[in-house]
Amino acid sequence: MRNSTRSGVDPFIVMDVMEAARKAEEAGRTIIHMEVGQPGTGAPTGATAALTQAMQHEPLGYTVALGMPALRQRIARMYGEWYDVDLNPDRVVVTPGSSGGFLLAFTALFDSGDRVGIGAPGYPSYRQILKALGLVPVDLPTAQENRLQPVPADFAGLDLQGLMVASPANPTGTMLDRTAMGALIEAAQGQGASFISDEIYHGLEYEAKAVTALELTDECYVINSFSKYFSMTGWRVGWMVVPEDQVRVVERIAQNMFICAPHASQVAALAAMDCDEELQANLDVYRRNRALMLEGLPKAGFTNIAPPDGAFYVYADVSELTNDSQAFAAEILDKAGVAVTPGLDFDPQRGHTTLRFSYARSSDDIAEGLSRLARFMTERGLSKAKA
Ligand SMILES: Cc1ncc(COP(=O)(O)O)c(C=O)c1O
Repeated sequence: MRNSTRSGVDPFIVMDVMEAARKAEEAGRTIIHMEVGQPGTGAPTGATAALTQAMQHEPLGYTVALGMPALRQRIARMYGEWYDVDLNPDRVVVTPGSSGGFLLAFTALFDSGDRVGIGAPGYPSYRQILKALGLVPVDLPTAQENRLQPVPADFAGLDLQGLMVASPANPTGTMLDRTAMGALIEAAQGQGASFISDEIYHGLEYEAKAVTALELTDECYVINSFSKYFSMTGWRVGWMVVPEDQVRVVERIAQNMFICAPHASQVAALAAMDCDEELQANLDVYRRNRALMLEGLPKAGFTNIAPPDGAFYVYADVSELTNDSQAFAAEILDKAGVAVTPGLDFDPQRGHTTLRFSYARSSDDIAEGLSRLARFMTERGLSKAKA
């Protein structure tokens, strides 16, 4: 059977790394996982308890397409608590993960052939989902001096219909402050481009609180998820905040594409929003891990890194060590038993000289991974590499 041209999307290389790591484990090796972008912890206990209870008393059939009203209201309340933003719960759409949010947002906002700017490096699925929907991802190569976040000059005159940003970002963990975010919103809107803000790593911040685009404008789509701060990746539940006059458009698409986000996950997500103590304890682990990474990576010889403001990643420029990040990552997995992600997933042009290290696992794992990396780099004669 023939395939559509739209379906020719690239594989997610980190998944191939995960598979290679799994095979090594199957063969009896212990692998330290610095490749996966997910918490090592499960859903908070309050979330699983609420679901256990609901499973005994409710059929958990479809919910309405926009999500359980109680969950939409609780999410809206969180905007007051976290950002002092007064949000109408009617604007909240519960989605099957933020990934489901991207599908809804891109479908609601763009026509075939529309051009959407995305920062490079950036989360790979933006590009692939856009392509699969017949849209045109426009890579905006970002600069070190802008901490690998886009700035208005990067898309001046590019005739975009959309601009997608993430703060804190994957793979860099860098954030847009209020001024930087404001400038992007203004420049995008000035060009007639819809502004979409991926805020999935909010709550995982180490120096300053992340700014939501909703503090600056109502004319935007904000996408978020229970996957990261709430530690619920496999539950596939997230949300989107859209302008009031877009709710019905999104609702009609959601009804047809998904019917609803998983009901069981919505029940758990609602309870997770009151599990702050446990979630803050997870954050304390990431904070410790971040400190370990910022000390251990340069010592091992990965000297060209920018301290991340949030999320749980460090993005390293390894151009002095290799020009083939995929082969280098494979060697690190083979020789050091540490799985890391080659930058090509995030930046098709420059990613052959970058690696992403995730520090979402336990602090013991991170310490062990760092000492393995240091040993590997010494044995390879690379530990003295200069930035
Ligand atoms: C920046 C970013 N956005 C979205 C996602 C997808 O998350 P979800 O589990 O909510 O679909 C990820 C996953 O790693 C991510 O890093």
